[in-house]
Amino acid sequence: MNRRLGILVSGRGTNLQSIIDASRTGQLDATVAVVISNRADAAGLARAGKAGIDAVHLNPREYADRDAYDRALVDALQAHDVGLVCLAGYMRLVGRPLLDAFSQRILNIHPSLLPSFRGLDAQRQALEHGVRITGATVHLVTADLDAGPIVIQAAVPVIEGDTVEKLAERILVEEHRMYPDAIEVVLSGKWRVDGRRFVRV
Ligand code: GRF
Repeated sequence: MNRRLGILVSGRGTNLQSIIDASRTGQLDATVAVVISNRADAAGLARAGKAGIDAVHLNPREYADRDAYDRALVDALQAHDVGLVCLAGYMRLVGRPLLDAFSQRILNIHPSLLPSFRGLDAQRQALEHGVRITGATVHLVTADLDAGPIVIQAAVPVIEGDTVEKLAERILVEEHRMYPDAIEVVLSGKWRVDGRRFVRV
């Protein structure tokens, strides 16, 4: 698989940073080719700029609808010869044009043990539910939100007296460790999707 990554961000970009760092130390054999954000003020764009990586802001307001926006995303990703798209705190739903252009080549990281606690505020959902163990998941992106085949998971215990912030911080440590690993697994190409399972071969 083409080892050029396109990373989509909407916010602070700490997962983006862990991917950039892993690609620079050689822990991850890949190149971050472009970082794209729907928000001009995303700190992730500044991180990309600082690392000398092309940083692109695509403003959704400038497109007629989600499909038009996603087509622009595809154009930008293809212009950078991207082989794998990684969502890293990207807060928009991924539409058909992007899913079709990068079929089984889009990853997302989510701060819970899926299929528990999909959607927004996963750490708060876990805390409020009272689970003793939560964690993080890297999965392939499909049309169903946070429901694609699971590549890697890591467990994080909930500790007595946890706040959403403390729990999120401990989950984030695992996220930063596991996302580069999951990308490496997917880039190796030694896997297939069997039903809803990601199977390593
Ligand atoms: C992470 O918790 C990730 O799991 C979720 O959004 C957050 C992004 O954080 N999808 P950052 O922008 O990578 O710091």
